[in-house]
Amino acid sequence: MTDLAGKHIVLGLSGGIACYKAAELCRALIREGATVQVVMTEAAAQFITPVTMQALSNRPVYGSQWDAREPNNMAHINLSREADAILIAPCSADFMAKLLHGRADDLLSLMCLARPLSGEAGGPGGASKAVPLLIAPAMNREMWAHPATQRNLVQLQADGATILGVGSGFQACGETGDGRMLEPAELLEDVIAFFQPKRLAGHHVLVTAGPTYEAIDPVRGITNRSSGKMGFAIARAAREAGAEVTLVAGPVSLPTPRGVTRVDVRSAQDMLGVVTAAAQAATVLVATAAVADWRPAKAADHKIKKDGSGQPPALQFTENPDILATVAQSARARSGALFCVGFAAESHDLLAHAQAKRARKGVPLLVGNIGPATFGQDDNALLLVDAQGTRELPRASKLALARELIAEIAQRAGATGPKTV
Ligand code: CTP
Repeated sequence: MTDLAGKHIVLGLSGGIACYKAAELCRALIREGATVQVVMTEAAAQFITPVTMQALSNRPVYGSQWDAREPNNMAHINLSREADAILIAPCSADFMAKLLHGRADDLLSLMCLARPLSGEAGGPGGASKAVPLLIAPAMNREMWAHPATQRNLVQLQADGATILGVGSGFQACGETGDGRMLEPAELLEDVIAFFQPKRLAGHHVLVTAGPTYEAIDPVRGITNRSSGKMGFAIARAAREAGAEVTLVAGPVSLPTPRGVTRVDVRSAQDMLGVVTAAAQAATVLVATAAVADWRPAKAADHKIKKDGSGQPPALQFTENPDILATVAQSARARSGALFCVGFAAESHDLLAHAQAKRARKGVPLLVGNIGPATFGQDDNALLLVDAQGTRELPRASKLALARELIAEIAQRAGATGPKTV
């Protein structure tokens, strides 16, 4: 995938041991299609050499405001004007303090101060476009927790910077706590999200995903082949679109998308309990979970043993609650405050089944897909069915489809339209 195709990122490194992660980040940005211009402070060059960053970015690295390579001798202007975003990773406590005060005694801080805060590309008189500033702090836990740093953080946000947060764990100094730079993969996900239109800003999206597991006894149960990938992709796309997202997941082994609140459940009954409670605050429900239709009427307390008769145990089943239909009938959904989207996993006659299921579940939008062609796969094809008709989303990656689906949902759920960040 090339989620950053056409984007030009200035990757700024200030001094800190997390500079070693910036090498991997640089590669990851390029792998996603971005072009990367590296700018380093003198302190950063103590931790990683400009030659390393030059080789990885395939461009000369800039470090000095006196760099004579620029014909107009204005590297800070030239570099910031061509950027779609400036990403400071790692951003040291000292560099945060510098940014806060608008100091500009080296190329990186000079460039950040000189970046245009407003404007459109190609404006009158060749006016420049606004260049967002993204900050990935990295420091010792005490430095991070210090009131000065926390004050700076708040003020930098108020000044328009986007703070990408910090990780927690073992630190190079031997201490454990908050302040590590986020991992390159996490920063990449955040940068990709940053560029997505904020179609669902102000919304709270609730997503169900994965299979459910219905226990027969303490060691066995009934489940299905749903991998949860589509639901996780929708949760990620909703988050990228600016929504607050709660993901209620059956047993799956997938990483939680960045910024998403995840609640793990096992059975359909567990899922119903969590979803009905979370639906009170949600504005959109997307039910992708492959909920087991039936569960053993009573799970045995002990492992069911063979009794030597050669006869299988006689299992009694009870129908599971229909989570989507239950929530779609709630007062919030009926008053229009909660927009419900169902999925239909079918093996044949997709359109007829999807239309019937939409009516049966009482949801405004139903998304059909062919179960055997999607379970466990990284791509899929969708058929959207609503009161107006149908729309096919042809085969693509689940994330690409999820983004298209989120755009369709945003149109219908009364969103305010794309917002600039
Ligand atoms: N669903 C649900 N609770 C259930 C069953 C299904 O919330 N107990 C939701 C699914 O998450 C999906 C939609 O309802 O959004 C349709 O699920 P699907 O399994 O395709 O349909 P079923 O209701 O099980 O109908 P059928 O068995 O006739 O295919």
